[in-house]
Amino acid sequence: TDNFTYDPGFTSTASCQSKLTYIDGDAGTLLHRGYTIGELAEQSNFMEVAYLLLNGELPSADELANFSNTITRHTMVHEQLAQFFRGFRRDAHPMAILCGVVGALSAFYHDSTDIHDPAQRVIASHRLIAKMPTIAAMAYKYSVGQPFVYPDNTLSYTGNFLKMTFGVPAEKYVVNPIVEKAMDRIFILHADHEQNASTSTVRLAGSSGANPFACIAAGIACLWGPAHGGANEAALNMLHEIGTVDRIPEYIARAKDKNDPFRLMGFGHRVYKNYDPRAAVMQTTVKEVLGELGVTDPVFDVAIELERLALNDPYFIEKKLFPNVDFYSGVILSAIGFPTSMFTVLFALARTVGWVAQWNEMITDPDQKIGRPRQLYSGPTARDYVPMASR
Ligand code: CMC
Repeated sequence: TDNFTYDPGFTSTASCQSKLTYIDGDAGTLLHRGYTIGELAEQSNFMEVAYLLLNGELPSADELANFSNTITRHTMVHEQLAQFFRGFRRDAHPMAILCGVVGALSAFYHDSTDIHDPAQRVIASHRLIAKMPTIAAMAYKYSVGQPFVYPDNTLSYTGNFLKMTFGVPAEKYVVNPIVEKAMDRIFILHADHEQNASTSTVRLAGSSGANPFACIAAGIACLWGPAHGGANEAALNMLHEIGTVDRIPEYIARAKDKNDPFRLMGFGHRVYKNYDPRAAVMQTTVKEVLGELGVTDPVFDVAIELERLALNDPYFIEKKLFPNVDFYSGVILSAIGFPTSMFTVLFALARTVGWVAQWNEMITDPDQKIGRPRQLYSGPTARDYVPMASR
């Protein structure tokens, strides 16, 4: 009966066909709909990449303007949702808040989301992409005890997010174009990454026909873990803990020690056995942002030296462990002013585009059925129940 393969962690099982994202892990290549991540990060913007992932082609000027306008129209959240935040302790981790609040959105749109109706799927997709920055910024505002800032639809998607996060009603907020550009690029770098754990979670949750808002909440839960989206937070904490360049060898030795559970956070990847192309863009962006903002951060020197030493160490060479997207992102995000607890929230905001595009692809794929892995049973064989008195 067991005519299936045992593949824990799905290292060799393709769960779907997809036209969205191509990764060649040995070559260190990442393409979205055929375009390299390097070119998209350099020449495109997040709204355009979102359009590309959802629709398959780069938009014309009119198409992009229409798309951006539509997203803009959905940036507000129902006023009642603000009440929902107040149920959280004020020191709640913003990922806990994000997970709960996005799940709660399903209650607002459950009756208007027939997943078999293409028009309703489009609206649900737009709502998710549009409301995520608003909810992410509200999670931050709640944690610092400042009033929620309403969306400002005269700004770009990214500029609006920065204003809702860092603006206060008492002062006029001016978006810094350098920060806006860097933030937009970080969003592009995180937009999609084929069948990673959180995307697979969204697909699996969606395969039962569940409401897309609930499915994205499931993706957020999965992303939170330190082996996935939580790595950016863990990587920056690690760099701070190392503190100075002279302490790096000690941490490299720990990462190599099989009896020590410590790993270099922001290093290694299930698919990339070469330099993660997103890390390369991120490293350049850190230099630009720190330079242009006039920020010097000793943690960046630690990161550069740690990368250099690890890439020359036989352990990391042999296991093909390279910096991943999360190794440098924390350095920029803290230079911009985000606390580490917000890092994974930003990842979730950007990845929502990928999750939504993948969810749509799954729903319209005639081959897809409910996701239901098999197992190898290793428990006891049938036995008689033992009454309490005889145990
Ligand atoms: N430091 C030290 N050793 C490592 C590391 C690391 N960061 N990553 C992997 N290894 C070793 C590991 O101990 C194992 O050694 P051995 O074969 O002797 O047992 C070998 O390399 C293969 O590792 P694995 O855990 O079997 O590989 P995986 O594909 O299951 O895990 C990973 C991939 C990303 C979870 C892992 O590399 C890791 O834990 N890295 C640190 C966390 C991190 O940076 N995660 C972000 C990933 S990129 C963004 C995202 O997808 O969210």
